[in-house]
Amino acid sequence: MIRIEKILTELETDFIGREILYFPELLSTNATAKKQAEEGAKEGTVIIAETQTEGRGRLDRHWFSPKGGVWLSIILRPEIAAEDAQKTTLTSAVAVARTLHKECVVKVQIKWPNDVLISNKKVCGILTEATLKDKTVNSIIVGIGINANFPIEALPEELQTTATTLQEVLGKKVDREKLIRELLTEFEDYYNLFRAEKFASLLIEWRRMADFLGKAVEVTSFGEKFQGKALDIDENGALMIKLENGEIKKVFSGDVSVRVL
Ligand code: BTN
Repeated sequence: MIRIEKILTELETDFIGREILYFPELLSTNATAKKQAEEGAKEGTVIIAETQTEGRGRLDRHWFSPKGGVWLSIILRPEIAAEDAQKTTLTSAVAVARTLHKECVVKVQIKWPNDVLISNKKVCGILTEATLKDKTVNSIIVGIGINANFPIEALPEELQTTATTLQEVLGKKVDREKLIRELLTEFEDYYNLFRAEKFASLLIEWRRMADFLGKAVEVTSFGEKFQGKALDIDENGALMIKLENGEIKKVFSGDVSVRVL
């Protein structure tokens, strides 16, 4: 079981994780966080569950959330326009990747827009959900799922070749409280950079870990597939793909999945 007091004792953040709500089981931490946000929860409130029965992934996929993982959501209230909301996904990916690198001393990769990988296998997914008021953001829920302390066999067979867990990579369990504390700290640092309009410096960090840039990829968007070379991300976090005919196409994270060929 995750002990919240153990996270809080040495947590030095100003607002991320100062309020943590812990549940042994939830349908989805994102769903609970959304409800808490509607009821006025403060920015930085974190919802943690030991297991989720209806964990949500991108593209309406189910997210398997066995015991031993780190399943949490962070409530944010940035004063930004709706079109800037996707930048928080990239911000979160950098925070998670830095945390895993620090805590587990392994090379960590980021795949646009929100997958964090070790040895080309997905170890973490991030689901960002924004609620809007007029054209500005009312709240953003950043849901982070890290496959931590469970064997790969705890995931369905079809995921076992593309996913991994920290336990598989390291051959031992990690200290989840310490991992979460580090994650909340990194998260606050990078989120502050984002709020200070220093997204460009964040993108430098993001690019350093984005091994897939320069590689051939297949993009699926609204059921349509196309191939090209992943060139870069632009200043708004959109992915730039060079198509075979030389045209450069920008893709936004909404309904897109990217497969490295
Ligand atoms: C993805 O498809 O890669 C995103 C997965 C996000 C999973 C996390 S687990 C905690 C939070 N609560 C959810 O229901 N989903 C996110």
